[in-house]
Amino acid sequence: MNERIKGLFRALAKRGRGLKTAPPLGFIILILTNRCNLKCKTCLRGESTAQDLDPGLLDGLFTKAKRIGFNAVAFTGGEPIIHPKFGEILRIAGTHGLKLGLVTNGVRWTDYLKVLAPYAGQVNFIAVSLDSHIREINDSIRGPGTYDKAIEAVRSFKKAGYSVRISHVVNKKNYRDLADFVGFANRTVKPDAINLLGIIKTGENTDLLLNAEEKTVFHKELGKLLPRYRNLRVCISTGYYKAPFYCPSFLGLNELTVNCNGELVFCCDNTRTGATLGSLKERPLEELLREYFIRQMEIKDRAIKDVVNSENKSTHDCNYCNEILKSLTPGK
Ligand SMILES: C[S@@+](CC[C@H](N)C(=O)[O-])C[C@H]1O[C@@H](n2cnc3c(N)ncnc32)[C@H](O)[C@@H]1O
Ligand code: SF4
Ligand code: SF4
Repeated sequence: MNERIKGLFRALAKRGRGLKTAPPLGFIILILTNRCNLKCKTCLRGESTAQDLDPGLLDGLFTKAKRIGFNAVAFTGGEPIIHPKFGEILRIAGTHGLKLGLVTNGVRWTDYLKVLAPYAGQVNFIAVSLDSHIREINDSIRGPGTYDKAIEAVRSFKKAGYSVRISHVVNKKNYRDLADFVGFANRTVKPDAINLLGIIKTGENTDLLLNAEEKTVFHKELGKLLPRYRNLRVCISTGYYKAPFYCPSFLGLNELTVNCNGELVFCCDNTRTGATLGSLKERPLEELLREYFIRQMEIKDRAIKDVVNSENKSTHDCNYCNEILKSLTPGK
């Protein structure tokens, strides 16, 4: 058996072991709106068309999703609170007894504190985005004033008793500073976890992508860091995986993502093309889930061939997955 195939089996076996310790919550992810109060240079969501998810879809979605084991819902966007019916959406999720997660840029943290208060006991996490511990670098990516707002947000959510994560997109401007960033966060704002997101390619952020060498630097830094912070969970949320098929979405039904048009999409880290499975307004969830598994098999099939046959192709991250998805949906 050649070394590439052995590596492939080792990676799959590793993921299988990981499953035993997978978190007990199964998340429905709602991309509530594509509107936003920021215009970050990294952003994978694309131009806002002021599209908001129809709350009328949620009662049916939650009822069925709970039956197949999903017990939590995470709100993302765009910026979730910009959805004109965010309060109503929280009420529907609350009525279904779902645990709640929020992904936010933190700018409107005072509004979030108010609207979340009645559901505080159900909130599982709040993730606040911060791309550098250096104000100038963060603000050059996420916009003026965003550093201060994010820091205020993390402190205030922590003070209110929520479990707070920092989401950090690893890119050209910050990958060398990983140790300093984690050290800063741990000393000052003290989040409960740091999620490192590999930067996903869009047409607009190519200058921020890491090349293969830079990814190696990132992995070395990460390897040194992990043993040092036992009280803080530092994890890679999207690419750069160290081996192919590391993403949990390749194994089963890991997350269930609905976008702001009411469509089931393959995962929330897909860019704009190729990931749409169909609309919940037109087809029942069970039918769309069939499409999900077909798409998953198509991706795996393509990836196995690339991993085994192509020496130099980088097959380990969301960018690769997004490329396959694009090619699977002609015309999109
Ligand atoms: C799309 S945003 C939506 C929620 C909210 N507006 C925020 O910024 O946290 C969700 C997360 O994706 C991250 N993100 C943005 N562009 C990305 C990219 N190209 N690759 C990976 N993550 C990205 C954001 O920094 C944020 O942490
Ligand atoms: S990353 Fe979040 S805050 Fe920034 S533009 Fe995208 S959706 Fe808005
Ligand atoms: S884009 Fe692909 S590799 Fe990335 S998280 Fe989604 S399913 Fe996994």
